[in-house]
Amino acid sequence: MLTNKVAVIYGAGGAIGGAVARAFAREGAKLFLTGRHRASVEAVAMEVVSAGGSADATEVDALDEQAVDTHLQSVIDKSGRVDISFNAVGIPGTKMLGVPLVELDAEQFSLPITTYATSYFLIARLAARHMVSNKSGVIMTVTTQHSRMGIPLSGGYGPAMAAEEALTRVLSAELAPQGIRVVGLRPQAIPETDTLKEAFEARAKVSGMTWEQFQESLASRTHARRLMTLAEMANVAVFMASDKASGMTGTTVNLTMGSLDD
Ligand SMILES: NC(=O)c1ccc[n+]([C@@H]2O[C@H](COP(=O)([O-])OP(=O)(O)OC[C@H]3O[C@@H](n4cnc5c(N)ncnc54)[C@H](OP(=O)(O)O)[C@@H]3O)[C@@H](O)[C@H]2O)c1
Repeated sequence: MLTNKVAVIYGAGGAIGGAVARAFAREGAKLFLTGRHRASVEAVAMEVVSAGGSADATEVDALDEQAVDTHLQSVIDKSGRVDISFNAVGIPGTKMLGVPLVELDAEQFSLPITTYATSYFLIARLAARHMVSNKSGVIMTVTTQHSRMGIPLSGGYGPAMAAEEALTRVLSAELAPQGIRVVGLRPQAIPETDTLKEAFEARAKVSGMTWEQFQESLASRTHARRLMTLAEMANVAVFMASDKASGMTGTTVNLTMGSLDD
């Protein structure tokens, strides 16, 4: 589905970035993987290459405009184009979860908002500047149901997710006329990831729940009575990045398995 597509993934050493990288590679994409620390990105790239795919690993801080720009220019120099830009950047939940809003300091509140919104903006803006000349491309990001639900003890995380979804709509309004689609994915919690374990640990102190009870309580809110797998999320990412989704832009795909109505 992605044969010969050139894809850049930010935060590729993380759970979602890594799963999307493996899925994109299986579908024939040529990958340029980036992340704040090289080791985890390199590990994903090696896995992709040993499975017969194409992947290059580079250390790029997605909050550093110059670093994102220099890397993207190197992708263009090597491959002549960029077709897919995927933002899978995430910061540790320990920095933003578990504290009631009335006790939260302003810096801790702002951290997710500035990190998520700014990194997505920089990645998207620079990708769009290169995609415009081809009149095609897909810019993608990942959010959570915190964007649309009042979930306690999550500080500025909900506002950060809402800002990303708003940016997806605005970017699309400006870029779709030039052939560039902008779409997000909003997956349900994925128990395989350290991110969910961190979210659990932040709340466990207050709720007294075990890891199993925490998963069951989240799963009970879905229609399927279970949570999502990385593979399920990555399959949708492949479709959304492919030309088969040419009719979709300016939207965030609801992968909450029924726990959040459209
Ligand atoms: N996991 C879930 O259940 C789930 C569900 C729905 C949505 N999401 C969302 O999906 C996104 C990714 O989640 P995840 O579970 O994959 O998190 P993760 O495993 O912690 O991965 C996040 C990656 O982002 C990298 N990163 C952080 N700051 C960066 C920066 N400034 N520049 C470049 N890379 C940076 C991290 O690198 P370092 O570790 O080297 O800092 C890490 O590799 C988040 O927005 C999260 O909210 C997750």
